[in-house]
Amino acid sequence: MTLPSRWPAILQAVMKGQTRALADSHYPQWHPAPVTGLMNDPNGFIWFAGRYHLFYQWNPLDCEHRFKCWGHWSSADLVHWRHEPLALMPDEEYDRNGCYSGSAVDNHGVLTLCYTGNVKFDDGSRTAWQCLAVEQPDGTFKKLGPVLALPEGYTGHVRDPKVWQHDGMWYMVLGAQDVQKRGKVLLFKSADLHAWTSCGEIAGHGVNGLTDAGYMWECPDLFALDGTHVLISCPQGLAREPHRYLNTYPATWMSGAFDYENVAFDHGELHELDAGFEFYAPQTTLAEDGRRILIGWMGVPDGEEMLQPTRTHGWMHQMTCPRELRYRDGRLWQTPARELAALREDEQRWQGRASEAPDLDATRLEFELSASQVSVDFGGTLRLTVDEQGIRLERASLKTGETLTRYWQGEVSHLRVLCDRSSTEIFINHGEGVMSSRYFPDHPARVRFEGASDITLRYWSLRACM
Ligand code: FRU
Repeated sequence: MTLPSRWPAILQAVMKGQTRALADSHYPQWHPAPVTGLMNDPNGFIWFAGRYHLFYQWNPLDCEHRFKCWGHWSSADLVHWRHEPLALMPDEEYDRNGCYSGSAVDNHGVLTLCYTGNVKFDDGSRTAWQCLAVEQPDGTFKKLGPVLALPEGYTGHVRDPKVWQHDGMWYMVLGAQDVQKRGKVLLFKSADLHAWTSCGEIAGHGVNGLTDAGYMWECPDLFALDGTHVLISCPQGLAREPHRYLNTYPATWMSGAFDYENVAFDHGELHELDAGFEFYAPQTTLAEDGRRILIGWMGVPDGEEMLQPTRTHGWMHQMTCPRELRYRDGRLWQTPARELAALREDEQRWQGRASEAPDLDATRLEFELSASQVSVDFGGTLRLTVDEQGIRLERASLKTGETLTRYWQGEVSHLRVLCDRSSTEIFINHGEGVMSSRYFPDHPARVRFEGASDITLRYWSLRACM
């Protein structure tokens, strides 16, 4: 067996980088994060042969968006993750500029990865191949090569295959940009994962009356949920609105009827999936018991990410916690996966005036808060305010120092907040909304409650498990 030429560099990066990353006070203690280098999208999320597998976009060599490999974790319970052998690295002509995002399927008992081989040319153009790789008995993956070239009418930005099976056929959605530089979601169909037929565009500019839909859609994921179908995707270039789509790129969802007969998706409006500062490229899978579970990248490309302080410790970004999805009353609900309750230590309770509530240790914390008016300060670097309008989340720009604000609008009755050293995930009204954000306080950091109103608190410190 010949070792690809970059193996020694990767091994050295991991050996040297790991101790540095783990010693960083911002390194997560219960969310998956890279041991070194830059991690972005979750990939290939699947329940397969008794374990969850979560792959991820990973540059192990440094904190830049290049040289994308697929890292690989697995877990029996969505809480404790173990490292698996590096799954894919960009060492073939057809994926030489990155093994880009994709999904995993169970093909007659063989764990099979569907990913994008990204190829850039000297003139600045690029192409993309949709490729397959299959698991070997030793846990490594053997590449089978490209199965789909760039379709006619699109630029080199066609990527992120999400593949699923229905009635014996395979289906694949792809994020795409057409030659007029408009964002689309494409659908393909195959009997064997190798020969694919186009079924056209199912979302994006000009589909179902959608206009101004941006210049590129990434990371689509289409699935059935509670009697409807949901398409999650990441449109780039949507106009900012006063209270939503405020990040460089948003993650969105739309729901509607998916008709396998005519391969058409009759969908409604776009909605923002998460209103926090950092959330992108989520992917879902089915749990063994049929729950639809989502994990997202708690990061956003091209934002202020390159100024995050963890970069000086040689690592960047983390995943969100796993979330259960439900569709009810025309809304998509997200709640932390019930397995996460295993992290809780003893429950504590407190009731009374917000300003008199105890400070909580922000390191690994979960709290539930019932209040209609309150402010919560997270270690002096992130601030949440609840009032009649909804929620304001404020943080200083890492670039300019000015206060940046994210909003969730609506009546707030209940918050459930999960903290892990440099992240918070705020679940509003039992899942009606979510705000996910990174923040970088000096540790030991405290969570403080402010205001004259009465609040009811339940809180737990969480166990470290990574
Ligand atoms: C989304 C994305 C994907 C691409 C991958 C490359 O964050 O841009 O579209 O496959 O990241 O790392």
